[in-house]
Amino acid sequence: MRIVLLGPPGAGKGTQAANIIETYKVPHISTGDIFRKNLKDGTPLGKKAKEYMDQGLLVPDELVVDLVKDRLTKDDCKSGFMLDGFPRTVFQAEALEVELSKMDMKLSVVVNIEVKADLLLKRLTGRRICKSCGATYHVYFNPSKVDKVCDLCGGELYQRDDDKEETVKKRLEVYEEQTQPLIDYYKEKNLLVNIDGEGEIDKVSNDIIESLKERK
Ligand code: AP5
Ligand code: ZN
Repeated sequence: MRIVLLGPPGAGKGTQAANIIETYKVPHISTGDIFRKNLKDGTPLGKKAKEYMDQGLLVPDELVVDLVKDRLTKDDCKSGFMLDGFPRTVFQAEALEVELSKMDMKLSVVVNIEVKADLLLKRLTGRRICKSCGATYHVYFNPSKVDKVCDLCGGELYQRDDDKEETVKKRLEVYEEQTQPLIDYYKEKNLLVNIDGEGEIDKVSNDIIESLKERK
C-alpha cells in the first residue's frame, strides 16, 4: 500500500499515522519529522529548514523533493510506504509521480483528513510532544496521565516552536494557498478519499482503515 496523508496542519496526520503503519506495516515518512530530526542533529539541512519553519512557511520544493526521492529508494519502501506532510505543493506532487513511475509504482490512495480552521488553531496551540519517543498529546483533547510527562516512555513533553498562535495562523494561510489545490489534483486522478477528522481519535482511525480496505 502506497499512501499519502493529506490535510491541514493539525488535522491529525501524525496522530493517525501511528495506527496506519501498525495496520499496514509500511514505513512512516514525515517530512516535518525529518526536518526536526535534522535540526536536532544540527545538520545544514536542519538549519536551512528552520529558517522557513519558524516563520510558518514551506521549505523550498527543491530541498524537500530530493530528500523524499532519496528516502523512497530505500529497501523498506519496496512493499509500500506512507507519506505524511508530503506532497504539499503541486510541484511536489508532480515530482513524486515522476519518481514513482521511474520505479514502476503508483500511489494507492490519498487520505485527506478534513477539519475546520477554528478547531485546527485549538489543536495546534494545545499540542504537546514527547521529547524522547515523539508521541503526540493535547492539553485538552488528549492529555497525558501525568502533567508534562509521556505515558509511553516517561519522557518530557514540549511545545513545537511553530505551534505558537501567530505561526499557526501563518501555517494555515500557507496551507490554503499552496497545499489545498492538491485536493482537486488528486480528486481528478481518482485517488482522493475524504475523511471527517473532527470526531474522536479512534473513530477517525476506524474510518481511515475502513476506507483503505477498498484500495490496493
Ligand atoms: P509538519 O510537521 O508536516 O506539520 P503540519 O503538516 O503542519 O502538520 P502537523 O504535524 O502540525 O499536524 P498533524 O496533522 O500531524 O496533527 P497532529 O496529529 O499532530 O510540517 C512542519 C513544517 O515543516 C511546515 O510548516 C514546513 O515548514 C515544513 N515542511 C514539512 N513538510 C514539508 C513539505 N513537504 N514541503 C515544504 N515544507 C515542509 O494533531 C494535532 C493535535 O491535535 C495534537 O495535539 C493531537 O493530539 C490532537 N488531535 C489529533 N487528532 C485529534 C482528534 N481526532 N480529536 C482531538 N484531538 C486530536
Ligand atoms: Zn514518549
